Amino acid sequence: MPAKAPPGLTLLEGREALREWSAEIPDGTSLGFVPTMGSLHEGHLSLARQAASTCSKAVVSIFVNPLQFGDPEDFSRYPRDPLADCALLADAAVDAVYLPAAADMEASIRRRPAEGPAAERWEAEFRPGHCEGMLTVVGEFFRQVGATHAFFGEKDAQQLFLVREMAAASFPGLEVVSCPTVREPDGLALSSRNARLTADDRKLALALPESLAVLAGGWEGGERGIAVLEEILAASLKREGVQVDYASLVDDPTFHPAGPSLSGPWRACVAARVGGVRLIDNLLLGGP
Ligand code: PAJ
Repeated sequence: MPAKAPPGLTLLEGREALREWSAEIPDGTSLGFVPTMGSLHEGHLSLARQAASTCSKAVVSIFVNPLQFGDPEDFSRYPRDPLADCALLADAAVDAVYLPAAADMEASIRRRPAEGPAAERWEAEFRPGHCEGMLTVVGEFFRQVGATHAFFGEKDAQQLFLVREMAAASFPGLEVVSCPTVREPDGLALSSRNARLTADDRKLALALPESLAVLAGGWEGGERGIAVLEEILAASLKREGVQVDYASLVDDPTFHPAGPSLSGPWRACVAARVGGVRLIDNLLLGGP
């Protein structure tokens, strides 16, 4: 835990501190909230900056949520650096950082995705319990923070879809705002997990953005057959050392598998393991 807050940033260490800080915010003030698991990079900071610049007050949470890790190893290896994170958040002009203790996040309401493919497939299939664990903690944050706006990255497209669905059902006053994926100059989507890639695996990891770029080329060339597009994506992603979990086209508005009865636009979603590090990425076809 940082001993002292950097200038301009209020440290909210625990739920009581959050409560006191929130009580000072006048009714009618827009409050932006960005949940994170810390080890912040430019992707997270783009969300924080957007919250700070579009809302009167902005708060970022840092909490490595044990409920959303299937593998206790992955949870314990997850990088943590709250001191550096707070310095970055002060520069991003957010007002406060919420650092709950584990006990503060013991949710009384367990949340699960509504029935449908997003509850069962892709991330839900390859990370059993992940979506429930993520929604449970995000729902608890929404309850505690009482924000008017919550900011999520498009990089985690299925998470964004499930959070929107939960917000629509349970938090009607809350607007969920999506923010574009921030990438390295060579196209790799920023992720806290990238730090665990060896130099060789870092090169292999480019299979994800490169396969999406090849797919976009096929789309721009006029290919519209869903099976053909998925084949282009899978063929380009498949490389020695890249263990593919899925490479699928989904209907972006409903997160159902792309198909003739749906109108799209389609989002291509990929997940793969490179040297034991699990990476995900996605691309909206025909998007900006
Ligand atoms: P975390 O992986 O720390 O991500 C926090 C937020 O940053 C998420 O909304 C994620 O989509 C966004 N983000 C991550 N990488 C990004 C990138 N390269 N470009 C843009 N946005 C990016 O996602 C989680 O934490 C957790 O599931 C959480 C929502 C905090 C619940 O525990």
